[in-house]
Order: sequence, then C-alpha cells, then structure tokens
Amino acid sequence: MALFSKKEETVTTALPEKLPRHIGFIMDGNGRWAKKRGMPRSFGHIEGGKTFKRIKNYCQEIGIECVSFYVFSTENWSRPQVEIAGIMQVMRTYLDDVQKELDNGVRFIFLGDLSPYPEDLRTRMRKLEVDTEKNDDLIVFMAVNYGGRAELTRAAQQLAADVKEGKLQPEEITEQMISDHLYTKGYPDVDLVIRPSGEQRLSNFLIWQCAYAEYYFTDILWPDFTPEELNKALIDFAGRGRRFGGV
Ligand code: IPE
Ligand code: IPE
Ligand code: MG
Repeated sequence: MALFSKKEETVTTALPEKLPRHIGFIMDGNGRWAKKRGMPRSFGHIEGGKTFKRIKNYCQEIGIECVSFYVFSTENWSRPQVEIAGIMQVMRTYLDDVQKELDNGVRFIFLGDLSPYPEDLRTRMRKLEVDTEKNDDLIVFMAVNYGGRAELTRAAQQLAADVKEGKLQPEEITEQMISDHLYTKGYPDVDLVIRPSGEQRLSNFLIWQCAYAEYYFTDILWPDFTPEELNKALIDFAGRGRRFGGV
C-alpha cells in the first residue's frame, strides 16, 4: 500500500507563542477521502486513524495540555453496519497498538457512554484509562458514542437525583456543578475547535465546553490533515481577540 503510506513531513511554519490549552478535533472527511480514491469508506477510517496518531504525537511535541478527538457520535449509529464495524476495527487495532507505548506520558480519557460497545472494546478502553491515569504530559480525550446533548442530559439526571435525595436545592445548582458532572470534569474548556472537510458545524461535539471556543475550518479532508496545517490553525488562533464578553 505504498501509494497511501504517509511520510512524517517536516513542519516548516514557526509556532506562535500563545497556544491553546485545549484543542478539539472533529475528525471529518474520511468517507469522502476514500470515495475520491474509489475505495470503501472503511479505508478512509483506517487512514484517518493514522492521521489521529500523527496529530496526537505532534500536540504532545509542541506542549499542548489537552486534546479532544471526535471519534464516533451518538448519531453515527445510523450508518451502515459494515461501516460501524470498520470503525470499531480501527479502534480495536489502535487500542492494541497503544499498549506498547503506555510510558510516554499520555493520559487517555474516554468521553461518552461506552455501554453499547462490544465487551472486548469496552475492556480495552477501560484498561487504557486505568493504565495511563498517572500520566499528565498530554491529556487525550477520545469522544466515542459521544453527544453533547446526551452528556448534558446525563448531568441533569445526576443533579436531579441529588435534589431528590435532599442533598441539593434546585436553586443551588451552579454552572460549575454542571461542568463537574461532565466527562471533562476538572479540565479546561476547549479553546480551539478544528474541523476539516469543509463542514462548518459542531455536530453535537462538546457543546458546553465549546461555549467560548474559537473555530478553525478547512476544506482539507481529515486523512490529509498535517502538523503543518495544525500550525496554520495555531497561528490563526494566536491572532484572534478573545474577549469573553468583555471589551
Ligand atoms: C468522520 O468521517 C469519521 C466519523 C464520523 C466516524 P466521515 O465518515 O464522516 O467522512 P465523510 O464526512 O462522510 O466524508
Ligand atoms: C461528526 O462528523 C462526528 C465525528 C467526526 C465522529 P459527522 O460526519 O458524523 O457529522 P455530520 O453528520 O456531517 O454533521
Ligand atoms: Mg462526516
């Protein structure tokens, strides 16, 4: 498959001083990338998996604190079974691969309800979380069966249970308490969302955590996304005036 193999290219653009603490990637365009080559969509997911690894490694290299990757949404279950099985196979292969590099400082945290996944995948995901829980060089959030609305619904249910038990009054619920009931509890909100593939939407990705994020869209399809392209997004981000409602 030399035709599709990826070279680790040198990054020539200089990095800006001001970097985001938390970057969110909506890894979109795998299907179109494969279609353009007359290949099945699953092939695009395999290539997208390679891009994920390179971009994650690059984020660690340049000292980013947290990075979130949208792997599979609560809405993606509506896709054909064969494609879903392909995506699960890419996850399985990666989860086995990553076992060889548990000591590189990366902590993995899965965002979403893992219960619909096959038992072997759930075990692999849970094991990776436990095996890397002491690492803190880079936090990698993997959004799997994730939906921002589902995450907020879950937070509402947990807080409602506390109210029912008399531990909390409804008027005592604060924004901080809601944040503390999300999968990303204790970590910074997303500063920069990057979505390739030409689509300009959030598609239910970290909707609470992105309330004040900056957005960077590009037509490049995810399998073609490079560290060089990430640098462009970072330069763009560094030039933005973030006011958070102030002046
Ligand atoms: C993103 O690529 C990966 C997942 C949603 C799992 P797509 O599969 O959505 O690719 P396009 O958007 O159809 O090209
Ligand atoms: C968002 O991409 C989900 C992931 C990247 C995992 P989609 O391709 O599912 O989003 P829509 O359907 O274009 O909004
Ligand atoms: Mg898509």
